[in-house]
Amino acid sequence: MVKKYRMYVDGEWIDSKSTNTFTKINPANLEKIGEFQKGNEKDIDRAVDAAENAFDKWSEMPAPKRGEILYKTGQLLQQNKEELAKIVTEEMGKVLMEARGDVQEAIDMTFYMAGEGRRLFGRTTTSELKDKFAMTIRRPIGIVGLITPWNFPIAIPSWKLMPALICGNTIVFKPSSDTPLCAIKLVEILEKAGIPKGVVNLVTGSGESVGMSIVKNKKVRAISFTGNRDTGSTIIKEAGIKKVSLELGGKNPIIIMDDADLNLALDGVIWGGYGTTGQRCTAASRVIVHEKIQNKFEKMLVNRIKKLKLGNGLNKNVDVGPLINQVAQEKSRKYTEIGIKEGAKLLVGGKIPKMSGWFFEPTLFTNCYVDMRIAQEEIFGPIISLISAKNLNDAIKIANSVEYGLSSSIYTNNIRNAFVAIEKLEAGLTYVNASTIGSEVHLPFGGIKKSGNTREGGINGIDEFSEVKTVYIDYSGKLQRAQIDE
Ligand code: UN1
Repeated sequence: MVKKYRMYVDGEWIDSKSTNTFTKINPANLEKIGEFQKGNEKDIDRAVDAAENAFDKWSEMPAPKRGEILYKTGQLLQQNKEELAKIVTEEMGKVLMEARGDVQEAIDMTFYMAGEGRRLFGRTTTSELKDKFAMTIRRPIGIVGLITPWNFPIAIPSWKLMPALICGNTIVFKPSSDTPLCAIKLVEILEKAGIPKGVVNLVTGSGESVGMSIVKNKKVRAISFTGNRDTGSTIIKEAGIKKVSLELGGKNPIIIMDDADLNLALDGVIWGGYGTTGQRCTAASRVIVHEKIQNKFEKMLVNRIKKLKLGNGLNKNVDVGPLINQVAQEKSRKYTEIGIKEGAKLLVGGKIPKMSGWFFEPTLFTNCYVDMRIAQEEIFGPIISLISAKNLNDAIKIANSVEYGLSSSIYTNNIRNAFVAIEKLEAGLTYVNASTIGSEVHLPFGGIKKSGNTREGGINGIDEFSEVKTVYIDYSGKLQRAQIDE
C-alpha cells in the first residue's frame, strides 16, 4: 500500500477539499513514494484565513522568542539530518552526499535566522532639523506566499521560511509537486519545534491551481518564488500590487584561461556541470575555454566524463543520479538533438541509458557558438556546451551574451584577469578558481537580467521579508517644516 499524506493548515493535517490526490515517484527506480493531496483554490482560501488569524499573535511575539523556535527547528533538523537526506535522495534523485549538503544548508540557514531574532537591525540617523530624530525599523510584511522548486527540496524552502518567520510573517507554502514529501517533513519539524497553529500552512498541488491561487490572493502581501523563467513572468503579471521576489534560471559560464590550473578547472567543471545532474539554477552549463588550451582540456574532460557512474544516489559509488522526471529526460534528449542539428560536435554522452529510472548520460558538446540554442537556453540537465575564446575580453563577451545572469566563474592564476572578470561578468555571483555552485547562507544569492529580481540569504533575506518603516520623532515642541525651516 502506498502511503497517503495530508496537508498542514491551521495546525492540522487535513485532506484537500478537492478530494483528489497525485502520486509521486522515485526518479531512480520509478517506485511509488506516496499519494499527496491535490490542493485547490478553496484550500488556499482556508490557508490564507488561518495565516490571517495567526498574524497578530506571531508578529507581536518578541523576535528573540521567535528565534528560540527557529533554534529548536535547527536542532531537530540536525538530529534528523540523515533521515531527511535519504528522503531527498529517494524523492529527488541527487546523490546522498549532495542530499546531506541540501539538509546542511537548511540547518545553517535556520540557525542564522534564529540569531537574526536578536538583531533585525534598523538604522538611526541625523535629521536636517534641530530636536528631531530619525530612524528605520523593520516590520513584518503580513501573509507571504512561498513557492519553491524541487532541486533543493529542503534548502530552498528554508531560505524562504526561516527569514519570513523571524521577521514575523505568517505563511502559505506551496512546494513543487516533484518533492512534496520533503516539504511535509520540514513542516513536521517546524510543528514539533513549536510554531503556533496557522503560522505556517502547507498546501500541496499544481502550480496552475494552488500556486496561482496564492499569487492572485489579495490578502497575500508578498510572493517569493524560485523556479523557471516562464512561471516567473506569469507570476509578475498576475500578482497585482505585491512584493514579488523571483529567483529564476541561469546559463552559467566557467571561463578557463590559458594560465589556469587545468586540473583544478576540471574538478570545477565536473562538479558544477554534472553535480545534481545539472539541475541547479547555478549549474555550469557553458565552459568558455581559451583557444590555446582547448584541445588539451577537452581531452581531460572527456576522460573524466567517461568515468562518471550513473545510478541510484543511495548507492555509494554513484556520481550522477537521475533527472527529476520524464519531462526533464525528454528535454535533455531534445536539446541533444538540437545541438547536433545546429552543428555542435557531440564529444561524449547524449543518450538515454538502458536503466529503469529517468537517467541521461553526462553530455559534452564542443565547437559551440554563442547564438546556438544549446549555448543560450537553460536545459537543466547534464549537458555542457564548450565554446572557444581568443582572449579574456572575448571570453567575457561570450559569457555575457545570454539573457541570464545568475552565477559565473573564472579559472586563472593572473590577478588582473580575475579582477577584470569580477567587474565585467554580468551575474549575481562570480567565483574565482571555484565552480559556479556552492553559495553559503550568510551571503546574498540571486541573479541579474532574466535570472531574477532579488537576493536571498543573509541580511538580504531579512530585506526580502520585512518592510522598512521610517520613523521621525520631533521633540522641538513646535512646527518644524523640512526643506523650509532652518
Ligand atoms: C540552485 O542553484 O538552484 O550555490 C541553488 C549552490 C547552492 C544553492 C543552489 N548553495 O549551489
